[in-house]
Amino acid sequence: MHWYILGAGAIGRLWACLFEHGSVPTTLMLRDKAALKSWQHGNSIELHESGQVQRCSPKAETINNPNPIRHLLVTTKAYDTLTALRAIQHRLQPDCQIVLLQNGMGQQQAVLDLLPDCQLWAATTTAGAWREPPNRLHSISRGETLIGPLTPASSVLPDGWDRLPLTLTGCNEILPVLWRKLAINCAINPLSALENCRNGELLHNQHRLQLLRQVCTEVEQVAAAAGITLFTEPLHQQAEAVAHATGDNLSSMLQDIRHKRQTEIEQITGYLCHRASEYGIATPLNTALLHQIRTLTMEREHRND
Ligand SMILES: NC(=O)c1ccc[n+]([C@@H]2O[C@H](COP(=O)([O-])OP(=O)(O)OC[C@H]3O[C@@H](n4cnc5c(N)ncnc54)[C@H](OP(=O)(O)O)[C@@H]3O)[C@@H](O)[C@H]2O)c1
Repeated sequence: MHWYILGAGAIGRLWACLFEHGSVPTTLMLRDKAALKSWQHGNSIELHESGQVQRCSPKAETINNPNPIRHLLVTTKAYDTLTALRAIQHRLQPDCQIVLLQNGMGQQQAVLDLLPDCQLWAATTTAGAWREPPNRLHSISRGETLIGPLTPASSVLPDGWDRLPLTLTGCNEILPVLWRKLAINCAINPLSALENCRNGELLHNQHRLQLLRQVCTEVEQVAAAAGITLFTEPLHQQAEAVAHATGDNLSSMLQDIRHKRQTEIEQITGYLCHRASEYGIATPLNTALLHQIRTLTMEREHRND
């Protein structure tokens, strides 16, 4: 067993360290020769975690290496999934185990369509990490990771994952788990990005709180139409609890906007609005937020020209 990691960013590198700690052989797949050259400055990941520093030394190679792949972890941003997979598709063996560890929805079905012979899992995590190029990685928390198969599988966990040193729960029904994460992301990410505020600041202003609750109502209607039970309590209570618990955090979408990076809005609110239109459900607020984030991103791109 050898796990290849496609998407050697913050989460991909954190998982490379976790695989190494679990004695699971791992290779980071780097985009190109420039990325490999940068990696070769230290040939390792300097992992900063809980005030300690360790070195992890997974293998690393460019995606062009021809070796066959039987175990693949995908940790690109959701919008890069298909492009990245197409570039290495010829290396994937028919029985390949693939795990998608990403935020957002839509890419899972697209991968099922692209690679019908593979065994596919989806995972979602509350781990937090950020990368300081070239090779320093800050792990904020290993969090909790939920994983489950999207194709018929003999085991709820992929090969070797029981050895990973993290809080990992195997779920027979992963789709509702992905929806729950999507629902919370819909509630917090676009609003915090547009309001340019920390998660907790969504709760301290009556207007923002009203918007958050309206987003949640729309999300609940779409989830119900998809046959998904979100939480036992109303979504807005859950979203407010998460915003409170992560009060000082900047959401990933706000961070992406501030760092002038592409956001995952299309795979979060975009996916929700797409599903809503399939069911004939109106989601005026989510649609408005989707357009506002798109406009913000486009304006930014024009300003950069
Ligand atoms: N970071 C977190 O704390 C966190 C927590 C929970 C969930 N997540 C989710 O996990 C996923 C990954 O997030 P992240 O923060 O790790 O993102 P990231 O740091 O941007 O890493 C993504 C990596 O994918 C690589 N990539 C993209 N397209 C590629 C291609 N065609 N070939 C090879 N490599 C390619 C990028 O390479 P380049 O650097 O060369 O562009 C980058 O290194 C996202 O869905 C995110 O929402 C992240």
